[in-house]
Amino acid sequence: MDHLDTLAVHAGRDDLADLGVHTPPLDLSSTYSLPDVERGGDSYEALAGGGTPLAGGSHVYARLWNPTVARFEQALAALEGADAAVAFASGMAALTAAVLSHTTAVARPHVIAVRPLYGGSDHLLSTGLLGTEVTFCAADEIAAHLRPDTGLVVIETPANPTLELVDIAAVVAQAGEVPVLVDNTFATPVLQQPLRHGAAMSLHSATKYLGGHGDVVGGVIACSDETAAALRRVRAITGGILHPLGAYLLHRGLPTLPLRMRAQQASAERIARHLVSHDAVSEVFYPGLDGDPEGLLTRQQHGAGAMLSIRLRGGYDAAARVAASTRLFTHAVSLGGVDSLIQHPAALTHRPVAPDARPDADILRLSIGLEHADDLIADLEAALDAVRTLAGPAAATAGAVAKAG
Ligand SMILES: Cc1ncc(COP(=O)(O)O)c(C=O)c1O
Repeated sequence: MDHLDTLAVHAGRDDLADLGVHTPPLDLSSTYSLPDVERGGDSYEALAGGGTPLAGGSHVYARLWNPTVARFEQALAALEGADAAVAFASGMAALTAAVLSHTTAVARPHVIAVRPLYGGSDHLLSTGLLGTEVTFCAADEIAAHLRPDTGLVVIETPANPTLELVDIAAVVAQAGEVPVLVDNTFATPVLQQPLRHGAAMSLHSATKYLGGHGDVVGGVIACSDETAAALRRVRAITGGILHPLGAYLLHRGLPTLPLRMRAQQASAERIARHLVSHDAVSEVFYPGLDGDPEGLLTRQQHGAGAMLSIRLRGGYDAAARVAASTRLFTHAVSLGGVDSLIQHPAALTHRPVAPDARPDADILRLSIGLEHADDLIADLEAALDAVRTLAGPAAATAGAVAKAG
C-alpha cells in the first residue's frame, strides 16, 4: 500500500480484524484496570517515560495513552512517512510540547524561527513563556544565528498568511545538528512531507485540513520514534493529550483528506487566477501564480494548496467591508474545512504579532472549501465590486493605523 490515497483509507486500522470490528472503536475510558501492582507500576513507568504500552500491561490512565488516539497517530505517521506521531489537544499544545522537549528540558533554550508564522506560534515564541529566547531571522540567515544553546529551528511553509514557501532542505542544511520543526498545517501530508526533506518534526493544527469539517480541535506531530518518546514524556507531564473523541473524528476524516485537498486546491487555483485581474485587488498571494522560477514548489510540494490571500486596493476599509459582506464565505478564523472562510489576519489570527511583523492591514486570507468554484467566485465578485471605488490615500492611511494598533 504505497499510494497515499490507499494509506489514508487503511492506515491505523491494523488491530481492527483481531478486535472483530470494521471501524475504529471509540474508547472513552479515563482509567484502565491493572493486572497486578507490579505490572501496573511497570506500565505506568513505561508510559510516563514516553514509551509505548508493555505487552500484558495496562494503559493505566488516559492522560498517558489511549488506543483511539494511538490509531490516529499511527495513521498520520504513515501519511507523513514517519516512524511515529504524537497527538495533542490543539496545535498550540503540540508546539508547546515540541518547544519544551527540545529547549528547556535539555538546557538549550534558544530557538530560531522564520517569520511569518501563525500568530499564536509567533506569540508563544516571542513571549518567552516557556523559558525560551527566540531569534527571528530570514530563512537564509539561520546558520549565522546558530548558538551552542540553540535547541530548535521553527519554520512554516506555506507560511500563514502570505503563502511564502521556505526551502525545507536548505533550512535543514543550515541548521546542522539542530532539529527543524516544520508547521505543515497548510500543505498537509498530501502535498508535502517535511521529514522527506530532512525535517525532524512535521506539526499540524489538526483542527484544520486533517479534521476538515470544523468540528474538532487538535494537534499532531509526525517524527522519529526517539522524538516521539520525548514528546510523549512532555505530554504525560503537562496533560496535553488529544481527547479520544477528537482522535476518532480526525481518523474518520483522513480517508477523504487526499480528495478534499485536491478538490479544494483546484478551486483555489481557479479563484486565485480569477482575482488577479479584479480592479479591487492589487495583489494575490498564492504559490506558483508567477510560475516556479526556482523550482521550489515543484520540488517540495504536490500542488500549491487551498489557501490564498488578497491585498485590497482600497486598504483596510475595503478589506474590512469585504470580510463582512461575503455570503458563502463565512467571516471566521480557522481554515481547512469543507466550507470556505474569510478573515482579516492583522486583526485576528496575527493580532498578537509585534506590529512591525504583523501582516499588512489591507490583506484578507481565504480558505477555499468544497463549494463550486463558480459560486465562490460570484460571492467574492459581489463583495469586491462593492469596494471597487474605495482606493487612494485615505484608505491607505486607515490601513496603516490598523496595522500599528
Ligand atoms: C498554521 C497554524 N499552525 C498552528 C495553529 C495552532 O493550532 P490550534 O488552533 O489547533 O491550536 C494554527 C491555528 O490557526 C495555524 O493556522
